[in-house]
Amino acid sequence: MNIEELPTPCVLVDLDVLERNIKKMADFTKSRNCGVRPHAKSHKSPFIAKKQMDAGAVGICCQTLVETEAMILNGIDHVLLTHNLASPGMIERFLSLRKNGDIKILVDGPENTEMLAKAARHRGLFVDVLVEVNVGNNKAGKEPGEPAAKFASWVSRVEGLNFKGLQCYEGNLQLAFPNFEERKKLAGPTLQKITATISALKTLGLEPEIVTGGGTGTYNITAGYPGVTDIQPGSYIMMDRRYSEIETVGSDFGQAMNVLSTVVSTPDEKRAVIDMGWKAVGVEYEMLGWGGMPEALVPGVTYSTGGDEHGVLKCDSPSNRPNVGDKVRFVPAHCDTALNLHGVFYGIRGDNVEVACPVARR
Ligand SMILES: Cc1ncc(COP(=O)(O)O)c(C=O)c1O
Repeated sequence: MNIEELPTPCVLVDLDVLERNIKKMADFTKSRNCGVRPHAKSHKSPFIAKKQMDAGAVGICCQTLVETEAMILNGIDHVLLTHNLASPGMIERFLSLRKNGDIKILVDGPENTEMLAKAARHRGLFVDVLVEVNVGNNKAGKEPGEPAAKFASWVSRVEGLNFKGLQCYEGNLQLAFPNFEERKKLAGPTLQKITATISALKTLGLEPEIVTGGGTGTYNITAGYPGVTDIQPGSYIMMDRRYSEIETVGSDFGQAMNVLSTVVSTPDEKRAVIDMGWKAVGVEYEMLGWGGMPEALVPGVTYSTGGDEHGVLKCDSPSNRPNVGDKVRFVPAHCDTALNLHGVFYGIRGDNVEVACPVARR
């Protein structure tokens, strides 16, 4: 099938670019003697996770239970859920996946730990857990150093759990600082928090088997840092408009994801209306001041929102205005949320649609 025949709006993933990105990250982390545990939140697809595992990934990270189920039940047998679960029904669903593969999950406090341990004991299981450390993200996580180490020491003694290591994701550094040297400088104190936590653990007689963190924005800073066993980048396979502005990342990885739309109306000579609104591409980076609009891959054309199902293209001259029926491709500002709005993405090579992949949404 040719991409012209696809129903729009839809997500296209250029498989040649994607495969180059996967290889580049695999080769790079190997050269730093570090593992890669790619984050599936950017693709939500066992089809892509399999390519990452085949390229040598030590496992796959997921951010939701549904993503974890999609991976484990489709042959991806090493999954770390980088979130906490605190609903008995969801914990049960998570634990039921143990028979299909190696699953790990985060804990960061007595409540979520006890809930998980109780359910594991009830099933006669020992579940692998990583203690989440707040190295700067200021979301979940124990404070680094002694507080995280003391908590880990307690976790290691809770029946029903296996303490495996530390989750140290520095989400605050991925996209906020486009300049590489600035990002690297800011990463220094963050990475020292990891070292301090490992040292505090050793004082308590614990050796973490896994110390994982790092994303696309810090992949070439965190990979190879002493004590870090693997990094967990997600967006590098797809890339997006914001990441293309992040120094080194933007030049290291190719743009694999586009959103395809159709021009449905041309009300005047410098305006065209397309079938791609907020329900097909997220614009939330606008709130962070990073620019949330998708970038049109047509010269002289800019996107502005027309609401849920419409997009309005402003064209700098009549000669640049696309016509009714034309297809227009966009680079989304944020690949993760763009994909999450679609039930399927199309893997393409050139203009040929090679595969349609379901997206494991919530
Ligand atoms: C816990 C965790 N790890 C890894 C990532 C991957 O980040 P990126 O897509 O910036 O590589 C994310 C992204 O939000 C995350 O939340």
